Amino acid sequence: MTGPAPLPTRLERRLGVTLPLLQAGMGGVAGPELCGAVSRAGAGGVLGLYKAPPEQVRRLIADTAARTDRPFGINLVPEVLAPDRCRAQLDAALGVLPERAFVTFYGLPAPDLTATAVRAGLPVVVQVGTAHAAGRALDAGVDVVVLQGVEAGGHLLGTLPALPLLRAVRRDHPDAVLAVAGGIATGADLARAVDEGADGAMAGTLFAAARESEAHPEFKRRIVAAGASDTVVTTVFDIGWPNRPHRVLRNALTAPGPRRSARFIATAAGPGGRRLPVARYSAAVPSVRTEGRIADMAMYCGDSCERITATASAADLVERIRADYGRALHETRPERADHAGHAGHAGHVDHVDHEGECHGE
Ligand SMILES: Cc1cc2nc3c(=O)[nH]c(=O)nc-3n(C[C@H](O)[C@H](O)[C@H](O)COP(=O)(O)O)c2cc1C
Repeated sequence: MTGPAPLPTRLERRLGVTLPLLQAGMGGVAGPELCGAVSRAGAGGVLGLYKAPPEQVRRLIADTAARTDRPFGINLVPEVLAPDRCRAQLDAALGVLPERAFVTFYGLPAPDLTATAVRAGLPVVVQVGTAHAAGRALDAGVDVVVLQGVEAGGHLLGTLPALPLLRAVRRDHPDAVLAVAGGIATGADLARAVDEGADGAMAGTLFAAARESEAHPEFKRRIVAAGASDTVVTTVFDIGWPNRPHRVLRNALTAPGPRRSARFIATAAGPGGRRLPVARYSAAVPSVRTEGRIADMAMYCGDSCERITATASAADLVERIRADYGRALHETRPERADHAGHAGHAGHVDHVDHEGECHGE
């Protein structure tokens, strides 16, 4: 049985989604199929663009836009590219993104990148890991700040768990649209974040294991089998993305011991069907296009794997979270339930703020 649909949060209204949940943009994992499926289900699907050159950026966006007529986002990671290459990615994307799209950045981008994205008029989402960076993102005029906790899978922007970071940022920015990343795998996790003052959340690991994800089947199998104690924060997978700790599944390379040679251990499909070598200690994830020693590669995974127990379609994941979120929030915050039976998008709620107060115009 599902409870009454909760009132939409500011994040839902800002991005036009019907559940306050974003799927993390994940390079090599979150392609058009996953992004499109999450978006069709009413959550925020995000296309991982990582190091894609401009022509591929345009192709991936066109493919995604053809799969969904609901909002979806793109994800850029400025720190893995030279500034001019990241700029070229953003320009290519802004040239083809539909009006319903939004732009997400991993880490605080250079001021000119943020300004270009903000000026383009699409909502801008920036993921940070400290209260200081959150303040700078808000000063730059971004629409949504995602606060990444240290329990998150993938590269880590800070050292605090997500909820203490949220409390610190919320104290200083009561009106900001804030989401948390890290530790989100269920509707109860999402309800807890909203109950603590978030406007929504972002989940990566959960969707990396989804049927439509481009993660290698062995990577998905390991996420489903793992518990939080099977993850570790390390710096070893630094080829291609240096100077940033990352949470991965433990494997032979994360075990203590001397660093081994960076010889090639796998290949990945490149442009024109060419096979490109993947070095041991590469930051690249094992994807459906990778062949070789998958077990020795970087399998980014958050503590949330503890509550991920099966591979499911993105639509099933989103619907389960939607039902459990409504139920859990109804138990803790019955005043947030919409007794008119709102299903997520009706016009009259556009003027109801996060705390359920009506402002009108
Ligand atoms: C497999 C994987 C790949 C990721 N790649 C990216 C990326 O390319 N860009 C990005 O902004 N974040 C990336 N992240 C981090 C997410 O944005 C987010 O912080 C994280 O997934 C949240 O924690 P969770 O995985 O426990 O849900 C990645 C995470 C995972 C698990």
